[in-house]
Amino acid sequence: MIIRETIEPGAPFRPNRDAWWRQAAVYQVYPRSFADSNGDGIGDLAGVTERVPYLKALGIDAVWLSPFYPSALIDGGYDVDDHRAVDANLGTLSDFDDMVAALRSSGIRIIIDIVPNHTSNRHKWFREALDSPPGSLARERYLFRDGLGEHGRLPPADWTSIFGGSAWTAAGDGQWYLHYFAAEQPDLNWKNREVRDDFLRTLRFWADRGVNGFRIDVAHGLAKELPLELPSQAELDVMPRDGTHPLWDRDEVHDIYAEWRTVFNTYDPPRTAVAEAWVDPSRRVRYARAEGLGQAFNFDLLEADFEAESFRRIVTFNLDLAAQSGSSTTWVLSNHDVVRHATRYGLPPLAGRPDKQGREWLLSGGEVPILDSELGLRRALAATLFELALPGSSYLFQGEELGLHEVASLPPASRQDPVFYRNPGVDIGRDGCRIPMPWTRSGPSFGFSSQAAHLPQPASFGRLSVEVQGSDAGSTLSLYRSALALRQRLQCDESLEWLQTSADAVLMFRRQNGWTSVTNFGSSPVVLPVGEVLISSAPLEHGFLPGSTTAWLITSL
Ligand code: NOJ
Ligand code: CA
Repeated sequence: MIIRETIEPGAPFRPNRDAWWRQAAVYQVYPRSFADSNGDGIGDLAGVTERVPYLKALGIDAVWLSPFYPSALIDGGYDVDDHRAVDANLGTLSDFDDMVAALRSSGIRIIIDIVPNHTSNRHKWFREALDSPPGSLARERYLFRDGLGEHGRLPPADWTSIFGGSAWTAAGDGQWYLHYFAAEQPDLNWKNREVRDDFLRTLRFWADRGVNGFRIDVAHGLAKELPLELPSQAELDVMPRDGTHPLWDRDEVHDIYAEWRTVFNTYDPPRTAVAEAWVDPSRRVRYARAEGLGQAFNFDLLEADFEAESFRRIVTFNLDLAAQSGSSTTWVLSNHDVVRHATRYGLPPLAGRPDKQGREWLLSGGEVPILDSELGLRRALAATLFELALPGSSYLFQGEELGLHEVASLPPASRQDPVFYRNPGVDIGRDGCRIPMPWTRSGPSFGFSSQAAHLPQPASFGRLSVEVQGSDAGSTLSLYRSALALRQRLQCDESLEWLQTSADAVLMFRRQNGWTSVTNFGSSPVVLPVGEVLISSAPLEHGFLPGSTTAWLITSL
């Protein structure tokens, strides 16, 4: 790739300190797979601390740390035993404090995951609930219902869990509890004042320890209204957009976030939050309002094929939504729940088919359809540069800066994701994007640990390691570093102007300071606009922008 940093090295864009999150580059750390400091094969908090220089050199503004709480790891840590503690396998509270201090001294902020929709089944509340009789206060913290049939032997309704199988599990005394995810993740009852107060305490606990913000898991699921006569799954599948669905995106959920906002605003600067809310895009605005969580994930790009018209529509639509909420928009191409974007873009497009990207390919162990891994990565880098030039914040997932692909060929015995176990033959699950990071060319787990990693890495990870790529100016890692450094210098007001291009497959937009991003989504080279080229995701061809490539330029206004 061509990197010509010819712009004047003026002062970097400095957002108002309360609004640091509006256009931040946030890097998601999945802690068990990032770096292992003590050789037990599991990544830990001290491992993150050791790698702070790496994160600083990468040029990110903040880390989003996925759950690090005590957990039996039924759902990768999203089954939380205690929301105000650190899993002993990952370290201690003092390791947490050291990590926050190290990040802070490198100018990196931290957002942590809050999991309020459910606890784990090992949480003290849930153990107490199972030990208490139907109708007890302990059961009121969760969603227990009487079973149907003789002695309540049948579940109260035919609801299916998002991970497959029934959403109800028997308590053993005629009652059943609701779990929209794994059976080990009982859903909390957010009508219960004690539940609400406990989470306020959790938010304060971490904010007091210097956490800058929170990523809210399943933010659209907390408020539930289960009628006496439970609807069928078929009825639940109908999703009204008016906040009246019994389980999802109810209007009252925002009362909860209004309380949280009061807590956030007692801090200086106010703590921030970003909602993981899988809702109709038109309803996202409610989560993103300043009186609520303040920002919401926009997964539209993550669900789109690599295609100019879709990308353009999504950007315009989301900038408009952001203007309605007063928040900035977010962009996500990869995270710990989806097939990595380098892989998605190397598979045939979904073209509107209602399927999970890469599902079929994963089920076949990575055989069918045939993956064009080179094209996938090339497009991924073009999409990343496109994303990083957009107004708003970009959420990056660990390993994408190394161009890692999804790993499809894991032995079944190594799999960890409950999706794999609850949905045999239908879904393979998400382990393939959670494979530990390769830090060195060789070694038992490529520098991740001094022994084998908890999920096996493919041999190809060695040549993709930080050690190999860090010293190669043409590597994916070098591209990310240069792009993030440029982004920090070029960041400006939150708007863009679409510019006319010579072909439908080419998108070009300009920010107010002349920072221009042009992406060729097609395959034939196109003429580059006049301007000073700063960086490109693949080598340019004599003034032409080849297919599946993005370039940044400074163009005159
Ligand atoms: C969303 C998280 O991103 C995912 O990893 C988790 O399995 C579910 N929420 C349940 O907590
Ligand atoms: Ca460890």
